[in-house]
Amino acid sequence: QVDRAIRPQSLGEYIGQPVVKEQMGIFIEAARQRGEPLDHSLIFGPPGLGKTTLANIIANEMGAEIRTTSGPVLERAGDLAALLTNLNEGDVLFIDEIHRLSPAIEEVLYPAMEDYQIDIMIGEGPAARSIKIDIPPFTLVGATTRAGLLTSPLRDRFGIVQRLEFYDVEALTQIVARSAGKLGVNLDPTGCYEVARRSRGTPRIANRLLRRVRDVAQVSGEAIVGQAVAQRALDMLSVDCQGFDHLDRRMLLTMIEKFDGRPVGLDSIAAAVGEDKDTIEDVIEPFLIQQGYVIRTPRGRQVTKRAYEHFNYQLPEDLG
Ligand code: ADE
Repeated sequence: QVDRAIRPQSLGEYIGQPVVKEQMGIFIEAARQRGEPLDHSLIFGPPGLGKTTLANIIANEMGAEIRTTSGPVLERAGDLAALLTNLNEGDVLFIDEIHRLSPAIEEVLYPAMEDYQIDIMIGEGPAARSIKIDIPPFTLVGATTRAGLLTSPLRDRFGIVQRLEFYDVEALTQIVARSAGKLGVNLDPTGCYEVARRSRGTPRIANRLLRRVRDVAQVSGEAIVGQAVAQRALDMLSVDCQGFDHLDRRMLLTMIEKFDGRPVGLDSIAAAVGEDKDTIEDVIEPFLIQQGYVIRTPRGRQVTKRAYEHFNYQLPEDLG
């Protein structure tokens, strides 16, 4: 992972997400005082906002080891049982994309989460029996893009649920400045701001754009990177002034040009844009909705006046 060196290791270093930070700080301190593992925690939100980073910080702050896996990787109940029985007391088990666990594996997770026990089947046919094995008290940290994707029995077993929000430009500017420092890029405040405001509210994108800005500066021999160099790099990457990338623009333009700004269902948008529904729902539209360019109506998604203005299009009479 190229981001390892610049990821924050402690809550103190973590920028933004003030609500999450404050709450997790309290819950972690309380659990530590009691000498207990932290309650199972579910973190949800769009990609790139720091779910994995937060899971690692939780483990660090608890003074625990973290084991990382993901929903699609766990194919058989035995895979999860092996992980659970190898934990040490207080460890964090991090399951990314936890909404993609198979039902059989979810079944293993329930008693593990509730009673620190797993039921294992031994043998087959009439001789088969199930035995209970104790596992060490641990903390499950699950991450998913949308909490609504989880089955309710699974969701109900998390004592702590945190939603990560898109970062405002101020927080992102701080993140970019911090990352630039770690990467040894001499990015001045106007440069940090330029990268931040074109990063879709997303630290992962900010850090990626920062690396490309560094490339452009390096090749053109700029010692100090200001707004102009940053702008040149970002224009080259077709990131526009709102931070929209080509997929964002394609979705907005499709809704304007092909659907004339009327409400349209997710399936129709997906087909017209040529992306799958999940990508639109998990990756593309959350930022457009948060920024007020798209709204959800009972009859489907609809572009707003702001979207027309962004492209300098005339708003159709009947939508005005
Ligand atoms: N890098 C990525 N996300 C971050 C955050 N929230 N705070 C500090 N650095 C980060």
